[in-house]
Amino acid sequence: MGLFADRAGRIDSENAFKVGPYIRAVEAQGHDVVRCNLGEPDFPIPSFIKEEVKRQIDLDNTHYCDPQGIPSLRTAIARQISETRGVPADPERIVVFPGAKPPIGFCQQTYCDSGDEVVYPSPGFPIYESFIPYVGARPVPVHLKEENAFSLSGAELAPCLSDKTKLIFLNFPSNPTGGVASPEQLQELADVIRSRCRDDVRVFSDEVYEHIVFDGYRHHSILACPGMERNTILVGGASKSFSWTGGRIGWALFPTREEAEVFKNLNINYFSCTAAYNQEGVRLGLESPETPAAIRAMVDTFRLRRDLVVDGLNAIPGIRCLKPKGTFYVFPNVEGICRNLGIFDAFASLPPESRQSTSPSTLLQMFLLFVHFVATMDRKSFGRIGAEPYHYLRLSIATETEALKKGVARIAAAAKDREGFRRFFEKGEHLY
Ligand SMILES: Cc1ncc(COP(=O)(O)O)c(C=O)c1O
Repeated sequence: MGLFADRAGRIDSENAFKVGPYIRAVEAQGHDVVRCNLGEPDFPIPSFIKEEVKRQIDLDNTHYCDPQGIPSLRTAIARQISETRGVPADPERIVVFPGAKPPIGFCQQTYCDSGDEVVYPSPGFPIYESFIPYVGARPVPVHLKEENAFSLSGAELAPCLSDKTKLIFLNFPSNPTGGVASPEQLQELADVIRSRCRDDVRVFSDEVYEHIVFDGYRHHSILACPGMERNTILVGGASKSFSWTGGRIGWALFPTREEAEVFKNLNINYFSCTAAYNQEGVRLGLESPETPAAIRAMVDTFRLRRDLVVDGLNAIPGIRCLKPKGTFYVFPNVEGICRNLGIFDAFASLPPESRQSTSPSTLLQMFLLFVHFVATMDRKSFGRIGAEPYHYLRLSIATETEALKKGVARIAAAAKDREGFRRFFEKGEHLY
C-alpha cells in the first residue's frame, strides 16, 4: 500500500502554471522574458466592477452565501443566456463555481463511470483530457485540423461518437487555436450527436471566450440548435470577458434542475460557496450598460495585436500562422522551424524514454525561452494523446504590444539560430 491512491497519479495538469518558475529562473539570470505564455487578459477589471466589489465588501457582504450562486447573479446569467442564445434559461438550472474550470472535472465525476467515453478537441484546453483517466473514463480526442481553420465538422466528429459516449467537450472560440464555429457547423454537430449518441449524452459547451471575437464574427452556441437544450451544459465565466481571472467566478447552465442540484451539492462538499462580493461584481458586469464598451476596447486591442503578431510570424521562414477569429491566442505551425534548426534530428537522437516526455515543439519552446527569452507553450500542453505528428506553439497576445513586437523579433532571430540550438541541445538541460 503506497502513500498515494492510484488515481492521484492519473491526473495531468495545465502547463501554463508550470512555466512560471522557468521564467523566473531565466529572469534571475538578468534576462527580460517576453511572456507569450499567459492565458489571461493583461487589462485591469473594468473600473465600475472594481467599485462594486469594494462597495460590497464595505457592506460586509463577506459571509457564506447560496452554494448554488447568489440568486441575483444567477438571474443575470439566465437573462444574458436567454437573450444571446434565444432559449429560455431558468436561474434554478444555473450553478456558479469558483471559475469555469471546476465544472470540467465535476462533469466527468458526475456523468462518467469507468469505461464511458469522453470526446474532446485536441488541441484543446488541457483540463478536459487531464481528468479523463482520473475518473477512469476512456479518452477520445478529436484532432482539429489547421486546414479546417481548427474548427470541427460533423463528418470529423461522427467517427468519435457511439452509444458509449457520455460527455462531449466543445470549445468555441477555442483555446489554444482561436477557432470558431458557424451556426451551420454547430447544427451539423448537433445532428451528428443526435443521430449517434444516447438520448442522455451531455455536451459541455465551453464558451468562456464568447466575447473575444473579431472581424464582425458573432459568437454562436450549440445551445441554440433546436432540441440541444436537452443535452447541453453551457459554461461561461468572468475570467476572460471581464479580465478577472483572480475573481474566480464561472458558471454552468444545466439541462435540468435535478442536475443543477447535484452540482450545487458538489459545491457544498468542495467549496461551500464562492465569494458573494465577487459574484455581485460579475452581476453588475452582466447588467451594466458600460460593459459592452469596456469589452470592445479590450477586444479592439487584441485584434490589433493579433494582426501584428500573425503578420510578423508569417514573415519568418519556417512558420505558418492562421489569423484566429477569436480568443487572444495564435497557434503557429512551427514544423518548418523544427526542420530548419535540426530539432527533428535532435529529438530522434534522444533515448525512447526521454522522447516520451518531450516533443519537437517542446524542444523549440524551451530553446525560445532559455536562449531567446520568449515564453510560449508547446503543442502537447493542449492534449497529449495522438499529438505526436503535430508541431505547433501557442502564443498569447495578452501581453503589451511593444513586448509582442520584441517577442516576434526574437523568434525571427531564433529561427535562424541553428548553431544556438545545437549548443542548447548538447548542454542537455531543460529539454522537457
Ligand atoms: C477553454 C477554457 N475553459 C475554461 C477555462 C477556465 O477559466 P476560469 O479561469 O474561469 O477557471 C479556461 C482558462 O484558460 C479556458 O481557456
